[in-house]
Amino acid sequence: MFVSQSRAIEILNQNKIVALPTETVYGLAARYDSEEALLQIFKTKKRPSFDPLIVHISRKEQLEVLTRKVQPVESFLMDQLWPGPLTFVLPKHPSVNPIITSGLDFIAVRMPQHPLFTVVIDHTAPLAAPSANLFGHTSPTTAQHVDMEFSGEVPICDGGATTVGIESSVIQISEADTAIQLHIHRPGMITEEVLKTTLLNYTSKEIKITYGATKASPGHIADHYQPRKPLVVVQNNCPITAETHHQICNFLKLSFSSSFETLNYSDKEPTHVARILYSDLHRLSYSPTADYILLVVNTDFLNDSWRALRDRIEKASTLSITFKDGTFFTHNKLKNFQ
Ligand code: TXA
Ligand code: MG
Repeated sequence: MFVSQSRAIEILNQNKIVALPTETVYGLAARYDSEEALLQIFKTKKRPSFDPLIVHISRKEQLEVLTRKVQPVESFLMDQLWPGPLTFVLPKHPSVNPIITSGLDFIAVRMPQHPLFTVVIDHTAPLAAPSANLFGHTSPTTAQHVDMEFSGEVPICDGGATTVGIESSVIQISEADTAIQLHIHRPGMITEEVLKTTLLNYTSKEIKITYGATKASPGHIADHYQPRKPLVVVQNNCPITAETHHQICNFLKLSFSSSFETLNYSDKEPTHVARILYSDLHRLSYSPTADYILLVVNTDFLNDSWRALRDRIEKASTLSITFKDGTFFTHNKLKNFQ
């Protein structure tokens, strides 16, 4: 169900939820101070209560009601990279409803870069918004994806296709006398390299980067972003022959007469693939000619510039195939894919 911007503002101020575009993916938004709407997000998405939400702001001053403290290094990065696809994990303000943070003492906050979202925040309040998809499914990059996902039940404000295409980078920083520790909970298109280069204008201290899901970020489970058909990843040195298809069908327990559709990303840049990945997965999820989806990458896939996409594709995938010395190797997800 599509609604105008002014109707979206009314709905939010009536303590209900609405889907809104950001530059990354569409979000399912609720006022941060409306318990009724926050609970509705979890119910609508079938999201477990242990997976905390990101709160979106339109002005830095709004941080005051969300967090106890912003370190100078964080404030610097916000000034450089906001609005944009970067989320900070900060100490939670005691007044913030623990439903948002799943009881954690930290809150995730970002300032999105989408005029429609910004105006809506200005007329409501900071908005908690996870991606507007059922838990575990592929995130939406168009209003139509959201409408399909929730069978027309959720009000959506259409702001066109998103431009970045995958979710924001989620980071947490601690600054000590000798070094800045930067933990990347979820990689995104604001990469390690962008963060490091930006920080060079702030400090001469050593910058230590770590990655990975910690207990502080329970949303990072192995199966996520999943299309409705099995996703199979192959490197472009792997011949796509009847034998490859048989290997895949054996693994997936499909008959050899099954069909597949190919997404060939082997000659594409990561920023371009980020923009099209979810929309390709949505389209092929409903394709009658695909029993599984074959996604082809090149050797650059293992480089750092592909890290965020590798993370999404790993979680969305069922298996991967590599080919060495004339032999096919099948792997669970992307394990041992090299
Ligand atoms: O680009 C995005 O970030 C999109 C748009 C709508 O802004 N939002 C999004 O939200 O991807 P969601 O809920 O699908 O993913 C939020 C991620 C989760 O994996 C969650 O675990 C992590 O952020 N997160 C949220 N609060 C956190 C916290 N307090 N500490 C650590 N991680 C947190
Ligand atoms: Mg999500």
